[in-house]
Amino acid sequence: MAASATGILNDRVAIVTGAGSGIGQAGAIALAREGAHVVVLDMSPEGCAQTLEFIKTVGGKAEAHVLDVRDDDALAQAIDGTAREHGRLDILHSHAGIQVAGTLEQVEPAGMDASWQVNVRAHFMAARLAMPHMRAQGGGSIIVTSSNSGVFYDHEMIAYTTSKHAVIAMVRQVAVDYGKYNVRVNALCPGWVDTPFNGPFIEQMGGRAAIEAYVKEKIPLGRWASAEEIAESIVYLASDRSAFMTGHALVLDGGEAIY
Ligand SMILES: NC(=O)c1ccc[n+]([C@@H]2O[C@H](COP(=O)([O-])OP(=O)(O)OC[C@H]3O[C@@H](n4cnc5c(N)ncnc54)[C@H](O)[C@@H]3O)[C@@H](O)[C@H]2O)c1
Repeated sequence: MAASATGILNDRVAIVTGAGSGIGQAGAIALAREGAHVVVLDMSPEGCAQTLEFIKTVGGKAEAHVLDVRDDDALAQAIDGTAREHGRLDILHSHAGIQVAGTLEQVEPAGMDASWQVNVRAHFMAARLAMPHMRAQGGGSIIVTSSNSGVFYDHEMIAYTTSKHAVIAMVRQVAVDYGKYNVRVNALCPGWVDTPFNGPFIEQMGGRAAIEAYVKEKIPLGRWASAEEIAESIVYLASDRSAFMTGHALVLDGGEAIY
């Protein structure tokens, strides 16, 4: 259903990585709905095109660049280019991530390296590239997607939990160092969200019925989140509604991490 932009992010410019599907896509749509001009970054051309189409239907403004967040030069071109073209950069949601499953002995060193590269290093690069623009204009909001696996421990997920914990440490350190520039940096920590990201795990668990039973038992709220529910928190972290929040790990997991 078409709806028009409501305005709490009017005149803001936002970049979202991994915005071609799932939580990143829902967040990009919500930021645009609230009036931001959204720059969609994703390695999937189809995902980029779909997100642009959805943003159009909510009356939002957006553009897209197909890139891999592991490519430093492409990331620099997109982030510096956005700031140059639009004259500002207010919001970075660095979202793209991967999940490599397994125990210490199961995960190959290459799986650990890949997890570090996408779940930590790519966020470091994106934030590092966005920071000079935000600092120069007197502030900004950086949101880095971690997971509730960044605040507690899963079974047999050494590469995932290690990288997701590490990126929260990075967020907190950047928040401490850049608060004086009015740049806020927070981590988004979702639990189970019904997106294609969980496809391989659902298969491993034995299909949809098995995962539904697992989710019902393990999560106090007894269900998955929708990507749209998580998107509301992305708008909150991006906007002045969270003006005094920095260095925070915002856990949205139906109570799973405390259960
Ligand atoms: N879905 C969940 O249950 C859940 C829970 C906690 C955390 N997360 C985190 O959210 C992020 C993604 O989850 P989602 O549910 O939105 O997934 P998704 O699979 O729906 O979407 C991920 C998007 O990221 C893009 N992408 C992946 N690697 C990329 C790369 N190297 N460069 C550019 N784009 C890339 C994909 O093309 C895809 O469009 C990850 O960081 C994940 O750890 C997800």
